[in-house]
Amino acid sequence: MIHRFWLREHGIEGTYEAIDVAPEDFGAFIARIRAGEFAGGNVTIPNKEAAFRAVDWHDEAARAIGAVNTLWMDGDRLCGGNTDAYGFAASLDAETPGWETGRIATVLGAGGASRAVLHALQSQGFSDIRIINRTMERARVLAAEFGAGVSAHALDSAETLLPDTDLLVNTTSLGMHGQPEQRLDLAGLPSHAVVTDIVYIPLETPLLAAARARGLKTVDGLGMLLHQAVPGFEHWFGVRPQVTQTLRDLVVADIRGHR
Ligand code: ATR
Repeated sequence: MIHRFWLREHGIEGTYEAIDVAPEDFGAFIARIRAGEFAGGNVTIPNKEAAFRAVDWHDEAARAIGAVNTLWMDGDRLCGGNTDAYGFAASLDAETPGWETGRIATVLGAGGASRAVLHALQSQGFSDIRIINRTMERARVLAAEFGAGVSAHALDSAETLLPDTDLLVNTTSLGMHGQPEQRLDLAGLPSHAVVTDIVYIPLETPLLAAARARGLKTVDGLGMLLHQAVPGFEHWFGVRPQVTQTLRDLVVADIRGHR
């Protein structure tokens, strides 16, 4: 819907289709991109790591995150990028300017989405990033990989970590439609804290609703989805598209229609 909106807006003859590619067929699919059948594409679960291995060149974000979500051809070179960290930062830039002056971030979750958020936060200069995860070992592995300034914590340490947190990010699937809620008492967050969720169905997750009830600034996950699409469209079609209110309204109406 996002890319088709931009294609129409820019009068570009093209389309963006969802194609179901099983992991065992991924190599053959990559060969079709190399052969020029597509201008490029996005890759999602469970093929992001295979895409990382399949490309001839990675951008810096893909290297740091270890996964590729965007493919394009540069001559006969297959390039792989990761636009999730960009999308996360660009959404916060648009919704809550000044967020990047924060120093301390608390990140809930240690999966693939967490990796993109950690890269974005490190790139913005957050010097103290605390990962809280149900499975401590996954948080430890991520903290060790991302290095200085990133630490791993158990779920029950949230209370002690919130009082000096500038930015709280949920990267888990908790709060998503059909999933259990993220149960976290936000009472300890300072009044200047920003709370953001990468979940966008529903747009206002229980975590964001609790933050809003406390009067905190909140940013929903839809902005990240919209902004992460920008670099891909630019690579494929040569035009840098805009994330506008009209586009957002269109996607919001679609999300509401599916619930
Ligand atoms: P993604 O690539 O979308 O980030 P993932 O790698 O499956 O998905 O990661 C999901 C994250 O949500 C993990 O941090 C997971 O915690 P665990 O590492 O302990 O599995 C977290 N998560 C999912 N369901 C959860 C639940 N019911 N309670 C707590 N954390 C949960």
